[in-house]
Amino acid sequence: MKNRVISPSLLSADFSRLKDQIDIVVEAGADRLHLDVMDGHFVPNFTFGPFIVEAIRKLTDVHLETHLMISNPHKYIKDFISAGSDTLIFHSEASTDIDRDIDTIKDKGVLAGIAINPDTQVSEIQDYLDRLDYILVMSVNPGFGGQGFIDVTLEKMRLLSSLSEKHNFMVGVDGGVNLTTIDRVYETGIDITIVGSGLYKAENINTRFNELMKRQ
Ligand code: DX5
Ligand code: ZN
Repeated sequence: MKNRVISPSLLSADFSRLKDQIDIVVEAGADRLHLDVMDGHFVPNFTFGPFIVEAIRKLTDVHLETHLMISNPHKYIKDFISAGSDTLIFHSEASTDIDRDIDTIKDKGVLAGIAINPDTQVSEIQDYLDRLDYILVMSVNPGFGGQGFIDVTLEKMRLLSSLSEKHNFMVGVDGGVNLTTIDRVYETGIDITIVGSGLYKAENINTRFNELMKRQ
């Protein structure tokens, strides 16, 4: 059986108690966190920039994967790396030069990830599979936590999981994963499962993390 990894998305955490919200999931066993950056342009919502990533970096040693839902990611890649990201993910739909953006990330010694929206096909990123460390399949249209899981995206998870060993990348899923949908996600052979509201909105976050992990 594959080693499952859950990456809690802080988007649904209570930011007024951020340190506490990070500690809860790390104590439950999380060894990475998912940080959602939104610019109000590529997606119709705002979150935060490198300044907050830098603050989060000071609160924890776990792996930080930063998901850039921003237009023109190239302009800001270096800032998010300096802020302390361990993996930087940009959207294929937002990049004007995917090769250049992968180079910029990898030159800095950080893992390079690409995210694909529900309507984007794997064939559109085919040329980059060998160079990417991480491919994030969006199972909702990005912009908000708590949306419904789009089932048709499971097919892309299956396809990418079958290619991941040959090309040496990890496959992640982001959006709408909770106790109801996680079995379907795990069946695809996914490596990393992002969970936001399905974790942070639980009455007991620690218990929920363990419940999600047990569903292997
Ligand atoms: C959505 C974000 C996700 C979000 C997932 O645009 O990229 O990372 O936090 O939240 P849930 O798990 O609530 O769908
Ligand atoms: Zn995300």
